[in-house]
Amino acid sequence: MQAQVLPARGSGARLGMEIATTIEATRAQCRAARRAGLRIGLVPTMGALHEGHLSLVRVAKAQSDFVAVSIFVNPLQFGPTEDLARYPRDFERDRDLLKQEGVDLIFAPTVSEMYPTPAITYVNVEGLSERLDGQSRPGHFRGVTTVVSKLFHIVEPDLAVFGQKDAAQVAIIRRMVRDLNMPVEIVVAPIVREPDGLAMSSRNAYLDPKQRKQALVLSVALRCVQESFERGERSAAKLIAAGRKLLEQEPDVRLDYFSVVDPESLDPVEHVACKSLVAVAAYVGPTRLIDNVILRSQPPT
Ligand code: PAF
Repeated sequence: MQAQVLPARGSGARLGMEIATTIEATRAQCRAARRAGLRIGLVPTMGALHEGHLSLVRVAKAQSDFVAVSIFVNPLQFGPTEDLARYPRDFERDRDLLKQEGVDLIFAPTVSEMYPTPAITYVNVEGLSERLDGQSRPGHFRGVTTVVSKLFHIVEPDLAVFGQKDAAQVAIIRRMVRDLNMPVEIVVAPIVREPDGLAMSSRNAYLDPKQRKQALVLSVALRCVQESFERGERSAAKLIAAGRKLLEQEPDVRLDYFSVVDPESLDPVEHVACKSLVAVAAYVGPTRLIDNVILRSQPPT
């Protein structure tokens, strides 16, 4: 369905949620919103929406007047042996959820709309993109920053909301925006967890009941690290050892990394100073999950 032109703010009833599949229709919608004086918020997603995504939408709604959500499973950020083909997709469900949230526009392009010819132009944040997930998923963050740049050019949002769950992605996008002077504010929303602590993720849908229980070890290990930090431990090596020890107790969980890094530069830290990111990635069966926590020292009073 092609998007229509939005009525000016305050000009009576708003149109319902629009769904645009083309770049042209999305641009027309967003430019009309801007001409009407609306502040535009963008929530980039790959669909298969859960409460975590909806929390990003709510943050965007609270800070902008016109919320666009993109749904695009971006092939550029998947490696050749990764789960691109089986990544969960349910457009009708996503559409209904976003409608309930009062989203103004869904941008749901096809792969050929986003990449009419195979991409040969990339945006890459050198150095940062090879850290954490970038180390075990070569090219992943280059794919993310390329598609996010394209989305920023298409929607031209005033702000874009990302989840803290992918803390490396947040650091890399912030750096891209800074280095390329992109006129968009990056807003970060907290991790949303299941009642038992598992961080919400579209990939949780892959877990069978046994793996679902095993997956809990990620958040348990992070909580253990946080508690150790709160008791006064500041050595990154000791904090990592405590987290890894817990993960090793779950033999079907294969650790990818457990790191303590600076949340901006993603450089490893030896001693946790004022603010450090503890990030974990592990395979539960074939499913790769990530989670993290920020450790903050209280400023001296
Ligand atoms: O976080 C995600 O879901 C994706 O990496 C993003 C930001 C939508 C880019 O494809």
